[in-house]
Amino acid sequence: MEHKGFVLWFTGLSGSGKSTISRLFETEMRKRGASIEILDGDEVRENLSKGLGFSKEDRDTNIRRIGYVAKLLARNGAIAVTAAISPYAEVRDQVRRSCGRFVEVYAECSIEELCKRDVKGLYAKALSGEIKNFTGISDPYEAPENAEIVVNSETQSAEESTAIVIEYLEKQGLIKAAQTA
Ligand SMILES: Nc1ncnc2c1ncn2[C@@H]1O[C@H](COP(=O)(O)OP(=O)(O)O)[C@@H](O)[C@H]1O
Ligand SMILES: [Mg+2]
Repeated sequence: MEHKGFVLWFTGLSGSGKSTISRLFETEMRKRGASIEILDGDEVRENLSKGLGFSKEDRDTNIRRIGYVAKLLARNGAIAVTAAISPYAEVRDQVRRSCGRFVEVYAECSIEELCKRDVKGLYAKALSGEIKNFTGISDPYEAPENAEIVVNSETQSAEESTAIVIEYLEKQGLIKAAQTA
């Protein structure tokens, strides 16, 4: 069986593990010989979406752009992983409809835990009002209701979450099982 192109779309609050799990997944997929690219939210905002802000309109534009590139990659046989917050359900669903094979992964984590973790110090700034329009604190986050996969960084390690993603994709026949020696 050959690898098929598809979009693996992470959504979740800042610090919920989207980038971490994406990278672990990427490493494993490269070992299995797949073509894979990660469109990571922070990196996209430096390049493809430079100049966009955090209004609903700009956030939706950012997501449409990521979705467009992901679609092009996936239709050429690559695994296109996206790791942006993507807070709005409607635009996520639009992208889903345009992409063909599309697997949504909800990276779940409570606000309490994210504030405690606060790896980038952003939650403290959002709570003090220094950063405005911060998703989950002062801006909406619409959790997906029908994500194919839900992972939770409070109850699982990043490795366990990655294994859950891989198991789902193997069951769906979207990726090959690892070679056993
Ligand atoms: N189970 C877990 N899964 C993913 N990340 C975890 C987990 N437990 C702790 N972390 C930590 O939480 C942070 C998640 O950050 P990151 O992956 O950058 O999130 P995001 O890309 O969603 O903003 C990292 O510092 C990571 O080490
Ligand atoms: Mg990230």
